[in-house]
Amino acid sequence: MAEFDVIIIGGGPGGYVCAIRCAQLGLKTAVVEGRDTLGGTCLNVGCIPSKALLNATHHLHEVHENFEKMGIMGANPTVDWAKMLGYKDDVIAQNTKGIEFLFKKNKVTWLKGWGSIPAAGQVKVGDETHSAKQIVIATGSESSSLPGVTVDEETVVTSTGALTLKSIPKKLAVIGAGVIGLEMGSVYARLGAEVTVIEYLDAITPGMDAEVAKTFQRILTKQGLKFILGAAVQGVDKGKKGATVRYKLRKDDSDATLDADTVLVATGRRPYTAGLGLEALGVEFLPRGQVKTDAHFATNIPGLYAIGDAITGPMLAHKAEDEGMALAEILAGKAGHVNYGVIPGVIYTTPEVATVGKTEEQLKEEGRAYKVGKFSFMGNGRAKAVFQGEGFVKLLADKATDRILGAHIIGPMAGDLIHEVCVAMEFGASAQDLALTCHAHPTYSEAVREAALACGDGAIHA
Ligand code: NAI
Repeated sequence: MAEFDVIIIGGGPGGYVCAIRCAQLGLKTAVVEGRDTLGGTCLNVGCIPSKALLNATHHLHEVHENFEKMGIMGANPTVDWAKMLGYKDDVIAQNTKGIEFLFKKNKVTWLKGWGSIPAAGQVKVGDETHSAKQIVIATGSESSSLPGVTVDEETVVTSTGALTLKSIPKKLAVIGAGVIGLEMGSVYARLGAEVTVIEYLDAITPGMDAEVAKTFQRILTKQGLKFILGAAVQGVDKGKKGATVRYKLRKDDSDATLDADTVLVATGRRPYTAGLGLEALGVEFLPRGQVKTDAHFATNIPGLYAIGDAITGPMLAHKAEDEGMALAEILAGKAGHVNYGVIPGVIYTTPEVATVGKTEEQLKEEGRAYKVGKFSFMGNGRAKAVFQGEGFVKLLADKATDRILGAHIIGPMAGDLIHEVCVAMEFGASAQDLALTCHAHPTYSEAVREAALACGDGAIHA
């Protein structure tokens, strides 16, 4: 039985980042992880592999759509699916091994196996029980399916099965127009599948700035994705080949079906805490299954903490990482803090979509007086050179003080561009602060500056 200052259960972005920071702050730290590799959902079956497939298929799209326009001629390349999956697996391996290296470098112990908490201050892994002054639950989340839908990860898949399909489907039905549905839908549309997305609400990407969502849907439709909105999926029936999705159109309650070779269920995720023994310990949960924590990530059991997808808040790797770092500081006697008002969200399609802070809809609801600075990528030379002039940057600032309240970007590298706004917001900057900052020409970031200028006396290239 080994003794640790901190044992973290779960080696995903929340857990491994928390562990590294704990070790850096002088705490004797262990991570319990039952997968063969570290990195959790994000590195093994989530963010990283999907980005590899998005990258590969983006290049394919460029070859087919844009190479000739640029005078690059020649036979169209074809897809070796097994090789593409191999490339994705290589990317996963490089990243997961990287975390193993970081654990060794920082002297974090990896306790291999699935952990449970038999009593406060104890973690059981296999036949061994270890003790810890502090225990952190960082067990993440799992896909949540729908009633009437049985996932087999071959014909009816979650995001996990969608990363390892045996072949490229001719017809793919996607249930849910959220982040996973649109990223993976894009991958398979670029690979030639006929992709239909069925969404319960009347718009895609719920919660996103409505103008961005509308533009996004228009661009994705041009790329070949079909959308059935306002449709509540009732169930999926597996046939000998493929499956049939049954849905009800909400406007008139009529029933309809859609046949597909493969069905991707992307209707959200739920906290994963099964098998930890939390109920027996008396840990309190929120109504939607998250572990209940206070502002310092503490549960109702002394010495037991929780972070990431297992607790409330957006289910995002970087939110979990920030909580991991903040909690490590708290456990080391420092003042850890997460600013939940500035957590960016990114969808890695082409164009990318990125958002931070308040949407216009939220500001209207709050009754806050605001102004909008909008700039189209059509006025950005660099974007036009890569055939991505269609999107825009929208900056929202307080009407009286000019303080930046939010930013919503659809366009090239939006996921990177958003961060200058994040930093500005952390510093409580005004739109004018961004507008007066010199931005290199020609860069996509000039569009952010122009949107900031549009909050004042006007953009130059509009
Ligand atoms: P989501 O919550 O983003 O979207 C689920 C969608 O399914 C919603 O639009 C919802 O209205 C719809 N839906 C629910 N029930 C339905 C029904 N019966 N019929 C039709 N539509 C229905 O969930 P998603 O895409 O599964 O992602 C899960 C989590 O993973 C999210 O929290 C997401 O933020 C995170 N994630 C983040 C990524 C990123 O940051 N790039 C990438 C992938 C996942």
